[in-house]
Amino acid sequence: MAPMTEPAAGRRPLLNRRLASFGTTIFAEMSALAARTGSINLGQGFPDTDGPAQIAEAASRAVLTGLGNQYPPGPGVPELRAAVARHQERFYGLSWDPDAEVLVTAGATEAIAASLLALLEPGDEVVALEPYYDSYAACIAMAGAARVPVTLRPHGGAFALDVDELRAAVTPRTRLLLLNSPHNPTGTVLGPAELAAVAELAVERDLLVVTDEVYEHLVFEGVHTPLASLPGMRDRTVTISSAGKTFSFTGWKVGWVTAVPELVAAVRSAKQFLTFVSSGPFQYAVAEALDLPDSYYADFRADLAAKRDLLAGGLAAAGFEVFRPQGTYFITTDITPLGEKDGLAFCRSLPERCGVVAIPNQVFYDDRTAGATHVRWAFCKRTVVLEEAVERLGRLSR
Ligand SMILES: Cc1ncc(COP(=O)(O)O)c(C=O)c1O
Repeated sequence: MAPMTEPAAGRRPLLNRRLASFGTTIFAEMSALAARTGSINLGQGFPDTDGPAQIAEAASRAVLTGLGNQYPPGPGVPELRAAVARHQERFYGLSWDPDAEVLVTAGATEAIAASLLALLEPGDEVVALEPYYDSYAACIAMAGAARVPVTLRPHGGAFALDVDELRAAVTPRTRLLLLNSPHNPTGTVLGPAELAAVAELAVERDLLVVTDEVYEHLVFEGVHTPLASLPGMRDRTVTISSAGKTFSFTGWKVGWVTAVPELVAAVRSAKQFLTFVSSGPFQYAVAEALDLPDSYYADFRADLAAKRDLLAGGLAAAGFEVFRPQGTYFITTDITPLGEKDGLAFCRSLPERCGVVAIPNQVFYDDRTAGATHVRWAFCKRTVVLEEAVERLGRLSR
């Protein structure tokens, strides 16, 4: 049977109008391109080695001993909620009640979707940093709300938030600010002055804030400061994180929300009708992971910092302008010095030219011209793979 993607003549399209513009994600296109051409895939942000064996064993033990094989409790298993609360206390001195202020989700992705579906009315405006992680735009659209981008712009070798632009983007229709720090794809980490300005604005205009902090343990310079720790923010902030990035188990899809009880209850109302629950046995394993000693977190960060330096050096040597990331496991580069103008065309041609796959940042913008020459590279790969990628990228300038 032919796939039912096109409507019969005169019929309305099958895909609703809110989602019609989104198409297939760039990650699917580029990962398929990598597989087809045998290229090194520095496109999609997943590690090519699994996380700690001890945590994998905890997951397998949970399955074999019948922990979480049936529907876990809606808010998440108590062991994981308690571990999330301990983690927030240990690293940030934030205390959350595991029963009322922690909600387990199917990865950060579901936490984002449930938060936006719960907190937005059709017609509300959401001010979001641009370039943005692709699910933000789709979830805002599914909620019937409008996205108002504030563009992070290159400034002094990194991408910066213009606080005046952020302030100017807020209107009487703004319901919430959607933040992400450390920021994918630019690698920017919002500093104390920027966070303080966001908090001041949110309090002054009585806005909610949804903050995606999945790269909280990948800050290479300075420390991660959760927005919820700033004055006035605890009561209005939904903080989202997940196990995928921190423990290198992106397929497990275990995420969580921390917020005051009223906000958690609202997000839970949407979440219960999305997945209801997920990842039962993995929730027990992630509870164990969160309690790993400080040395795990320090080693993880040091490993990725060395990989950042390796790939950043190779990209600079190949002729790119490199924006050295302060956090995350992505590097954004500008292709202009290579005589290139269009990141999408460049990424489509790259496998043939040197056997490497990357992601064009323009797909993360409303205003595609703002990111037209930017390309993102993931460095959460084995050192030998990055070395080979650097060697291949060298062909571009030969
Ligand atoms: C900024 C950001 N948020 C959320 C996610 C998704 O997290 P999860 O796999 O836990 O759903 C990603 C994954 O790339 C991300 O980069």
